[in-house]
Amino acid sequence: MYRIGIVGAGIRGKMYAQTIEQDQYAELVAISDTYQPTLAQALELINDEKVKGFTDYKEMIDTCNLDGIIVAVPDFLHHDPVIYAAEHKVNILCEKPFSTDVKECEEMLAAVEKNNVICMVAFENRWNEPMVAMKNYINSGALGDIINVNARLNDKILVPTDMLKWSKGSSVGWFLFPHLLDLIMWYNGGKKVKQVYAVGTKKVLTKMGLDIYDSMQATVTFEDDTNATLTSSWVLPNSMALTYDLKMEIIGEKSTAYINTHDQCVRTYSDHVENLHSIGTPIDGMLIGNSNFMTHHFINVLRGAVKLEATAQKGVYNTKVIAAIHESAAAGGKVIRIEE
Ligand SMILES: NC(=O)c1ccc[n+]([C@@H]2O[C@H](COP(=O)([O-])OP(=O)(O)OC[C@H]3O[C@@H](n4cnc5c(N)ncnc54)[C@H](O)[C@@H]3O)[C@@H](O)[C@H]2O)c1
Repeated sequence: MYRIGIVGAGIRGKMYAQTIEQDQYAELVAISDTYQPTLAQALELINDEKVKGFTDYKEMIDTCNLDGIIVAVPDFLHHDPVIYAAEHKVNILCEKPFSTDVKECEEMLAAVEKNNVICMVAFENRWNEPMVAMKNYINSGALGDIINVNARLNDKILVPTDMLKWSKGSSVGWFLFPHLLDLIMWYNGGKKVKQVYAVGTKKVLTKMGLDIYDSMQATVTFEDDTNATLTSSWVLPNSMALTYDLKMEIIGEKSTAYINTHDQCVRTYSDHVENLHSIGTPIDGMLIGNSNFMTHHFINVLRGAVKLEATAQKGVYNTKVIAAIHESAAAGGKVIRIEE
């Protein structure tokens, strides 16, 4: 059994813990969180006396003889646990964005390569059924070469104001663009980005004391002069059916394809209309959502049963482009060329 520890016992950490508990090749050995009440809550949820709790992830890594750790701490705190794990020869599944800082990312990659450990980045939409169906459609050749992509991933306003206590240290672009950019580059075969242009709007969240973008829009130009637009907003009404709204339009040489995640729902009508997110509903107690599939995939990578695709190198490149998007938006829409 592969011995797994988790750094960060928040929303994602709890999901990972429950999923590892269900993996047939892995055992959850320990979970760490600097905030004792969150750690206690996670241990209670898991309810497995074999799982140890730590408030210091270094102590967890030092004492638990782990084969892998999952890093699920806020966006801007991924660097230290990734480096520490790599230096202790522990394999890593790191949340997206790999980091919010290009230099940090490069240090993380260098540590991973120097210590020859596996490092996967949690681009979980690669395990999201409609996204996989789109990938299969593109691979079939029915779409032809991609001409243009219009991608949008928004969240309800509760995400920056309530769910993420640390949203001020990140941004809608850091939180959501990693998914869109990774999907687009997965679909277009990993074409390099030539330049980006981006703008952002601050109105609603600033009035609530959060000096962060409500919304960001970027145009990304690839090496073959095809373009993609990425739009993400953090201010959707809380009455929206799903916490997120992911839509994508891909125009190809031969056909056009659309994804609307709100179509993956059961719709109910009472005194209000509600979409229940039916994709990923547990069956026989088994967690079968995209994040759960991704977690099992990580264990299968450790076993050597599948090839690692969501690599640290892709994580670094993803951060480089999103950093350039932020630079462009901060400069009011300056075109930023991406160095080779
Ligand atoms: N892949 C996806 O689709 C997806 C979805 C949501 C969130 N995320 C990412 O997952 C990460 C975690 O997000 P979340 O929603 O679980 O946040 P969260 O705030 O619920 O949890 C983060 C936890 O990390 C803990 N923490 C902070 N520093 C720590 C440290 N040094 N050691 C141990 N614990 C520490 C905090 O106390 C908190 O409990 C973020 O990077 C986020 O962007 C990814």
